Amino acid sequence: MAQLTIQHGPTERTIAVTPDLPLLDQILAQGVDLPYSCRRGDCGLCAVSLTAGNLAPHEPSQAFRRHDDYLLCNCRLAADAPASIARPWFPELAGIAARRSPCKINALRRLGPDVMEVTLRLPPTTPFHYLPGQHIRLTNAQQVTRSYSLAAPPDADRLLRIHVREVEGGAFSDYLFQRAQTNDLLQLEGPFGHFFLRQRFADRRLIFLATGTGIAPVLALLLALKENKTPPPSPIRVYWGNRTAGQAYLHGTLHALQAEMGFDYQALFSRESGGARDPDDPRHVQQLLTEPAALVDAVVYAAGSAAMVEDARTHCLRLGLAADAFIADPFTPS
Ligand SMILES: Cc1cc2nc3c(=O)[nH]c(=O)nc-3n(C[C@H](O)[C@H](O)[C@H](O)COP(=O)(O)OP(=O)(O)OC[C@H]3O[C@@H](n4cnc5c(N)ncnc54)[C@H](O)[C@@H]3O)c2cc1C
Ligand code: FES
Repeated sequence: MAQLTIQHGPTERTIAVTPDLPLLDQILAQGVDLPYSCRRGDCGLCAVSLTAGNLAPHEPSQAFRRHDDYLLCNCRLAADAPASIARPWFPELAGIAARRSPCKINALRRLGPDVMEVTLRLPPTTPFHYLPGQHIRLTNAQQVTRSYSLAAPPDADRLLRIHVREVEGGAFSDYLFQRAQTNDLLQLEGPFGHFFLRQRFADRRLIFLATGTGIAPVLALLLALKENKTPPPSPIRVYWGNRTAGQAYLHGTLHALQAEMGFDYQALFSRESGGARDPDDPRHVQQLLTEPAALVDAVVYAAGSAAMVEDARTHCLRLGLAADAFIADPFTPS
């Protein structure tokens, strides 16, 4: 066993770990609350920086580094020697702590042919604080657990809203679309994630990229901005990609918000075949950012398919965006 020190802003905790097992498993087993989702090096939620010692991949076929960071789900100590890691720390998260609570389905409402809005009700005495853009984990009676982004800022009615797309053969979405009933009991954990508006980037121009239900956390951020007394610099850009126009279930809502808030909104359809379509037209949201000038003094928030998010990250960094100005929320399948 060796000592692992975990720094998190002003706090520090040291635990004993073995080099034989992934660090994430050992840290969680010792009651330290850490964000994670996929547990296989895809989502990036468990990324930390290494401040002392050495780490090695636990499973060589999976990613254990992301840029300068280490992915705890696939890292182990390189030797039986002490190490120190630093978790990302954000002042915005002061007072926000993940918790577990039962919750009930308050309502199920179709927003489109394959998207359901699920409204969740917490027990009246359970406080639940989150930042717009964060996500929760839900577990149903069959013990299937999945992550979903909250689609609205905290509201006086204390209801939580998520948008779920139906996935063919999907364990959780199939339950929600075929069998779920109002008042079904679920277990909720959260809030999690770093997809929230950064205070230190308040004077930057905002670019939102989303695919599919990735628009849910972006909607939460837009609604939070609408409530803000101090609007960010213009123009805000919102680029939303779907396979077909029929899947763009929030088109009307976004048009209405666009009229109210004056942002630049474009919807793209990657599989729509229109006779008059220019073959050079971009079909993917990240292709709309072609000029380095568009990214000067900007911060990019990208949510939805993991492929889009990683492609957009590579694209934006190549155009000169600083790595910390790209804020990602990849919807990595479990
Ligand atoms: C941080 C985070 C936030 C998320 N937020 C949302 C959200 O707001 N709304 C939402 O709908 N989903 C969201 N997801 C995805 C969600 O957690 C589930 O992965 C998704 O609902 C599918 O779960 P399932 O149980 O229905 O399918 P599963 O049983 O997990 O999958 C069934 C099969 O479909 C494949 N599959 C899963 N997802 C997809 C996909 N998108 N496209 C193609 N194939 C797929 C799987 O690989 C598997 O083969 C989020 C994921 C993360 C990590
Ligand atoms: S939990 Fe480690 S990368 Fe997803």
